[in-house]
Amino acid sequence: MRNIRTLITLIIFTAFFTSCSKEVKEEPIPVPVPEPTTNTPTPAPLQIPQLFAQTINPPLIPTNNPQTIEGVALGRKLFFDPILSGDGTLACASCHSPEFSFTDSSRFSTGITMQQGDRNSMAIFNAAWNWNGKFFWDGRANSLENQALGPVVNPIEMNNTWPTAMASLQAHPDYPGLFNDAFGTSTIDSTLVTMAIAQFERTLISANSRFDRYIMGQSALTPQELSGFNIYNNGNIGGGDCFHCHGDGSNPLWTDNDFHNNGLDATFTDNGRSIVTGNSADDGKFKTPSLRNLAYSAPYMHDGRFATLDEVIDHYSTGVVMSSTIDPLMQHAGTGGTQMSPSDKADLKAFLLSLSDSDFIVNPDFQDPN
Ligand code: HEC
Ligand code: HEC
Repeated sequence: MRNIRTLITLIIFTAFFTSCSKEVKEEPIPVPVPEPTTNTPTPAPLQIPQLFAQTINPPLIPTNNPQTIEGVALGRKLFFDPILSGDGTLACASCHSPEFSFTDSSRFSTGITMQQGDRNSMAIFNAAWNWNGKFFWDGRANSLENQALGPVVNPIEMNNTWPTAMASLQAHPDYPGLFNDAFGTSTIDSTLVTMAIAQFERTLISANSRFDRYIMGQSALTPQELSGFNIYNNGNIGGGDCFHCHGDGSNPLWTDNDFHNNGLDATFTDNGRSIVTGNSADDGKFKTPSLRNLAYSAPYMHDGRFATLDEVIDHYSTGVVMSSTIDPLMQHAGTGGTQMSPSDKADLKAFLLSLSDSDFIVNPDFQDPN
């Protein structure tokens, strides 16, 4: 590309000077300045919220895919663009929409062939802090870059092939130039597509819930929410006993980024983590989801079986089922759960809702740019 441009510029220059030497008396025509090629992307380090800087380790960003203004902008465009799907109708954002905290509102998302999967779409935020680098409910992808390879070719999701997706992007009027801006080459490949999308996903930071502001000393919680926080951290029967896997509130991620069996089933139709590890001790274990933004991300659990937070709380209170791999941290499984009172359940729900970040879902930087 650049060589051809240099050649054309040379030809223009030669033609210009040749014509000048012939007609000396004419006013010289101004030489058009060739458009600069922006192939040195502008570094754009993640803006780490003060709360995160004070409480948790720095985010995980691969050294070969640093955040840049152009990379993030390209990734955002790709994330919302149905061009990646086989029939041009489905984007990543179709199943990961900002209004639902980057998941969707159905139990199972429908792909382009109208087929449904058997897992609930996952909310995407604070993914740069997933230090163990395991994505999906079973942790089978080891980075955001690697994760993004999957949905494009998944027959029940975007049902495309990478060669077709790349050809569509390459033939598009804007994408070759945008890839040149972001990565210094207009030759598009799947690696660069996933790098750009991962850069955008890492900017999806949620750190401004009412609870966050309470921890920062900027806002108060209601007595009911404070009571709910105590129940959440109370490990006795009658309490919630939630803190083991979702953190005790000192970790603003509200997940341990690990895999557990939280007592949903006695036998498993979806083996979860063991599909990846091949170890039957991992049967029925799934990634602990964050408790942030639950106000927007229903339904809940890997198979979206609970439509409401009340159902989730009832599960932990009286619905816990024993199985071969039940997590020892589910210490009240023997009694079917922690047996919370109706008013304590209501308080726990009020507390959980204080973890929702209403700024996150309307952040203008996270909306469809197309
Ligand atoms: C048809 C709906 C659908 C589409 C389209 C889709 N996803 Fe997903 N996504 C899901 C489902 C369902 C899961 C969970 C699947 C699993 O665990 O096996 C998921 C999981 C994820 C996760 C894992 C989050 C975590 O915390 O582990 C990320 C990241 C993600 N998707 C990004 C994307 C990107 C990027 C695209 C576009 C290239 C995309 N998705 C397209 C439905 C979809
Ligand atoms: C032993 C670890 C553990 C404990 C203790 C625990 N959870 Fe969970 N939680 C999980 C795991 C793992 C999942 C995902 C399970 C699945 O989908 O199969 C989950 C899922 C959830 C979800 C669904 C979120 C979503 O996006 O789908 C909510 C809400 C939740 N837990 C709240 C709580 C509350 C409230 C308590 C205490 C009453 C609690 N958890 C105790 C591990 C735990």
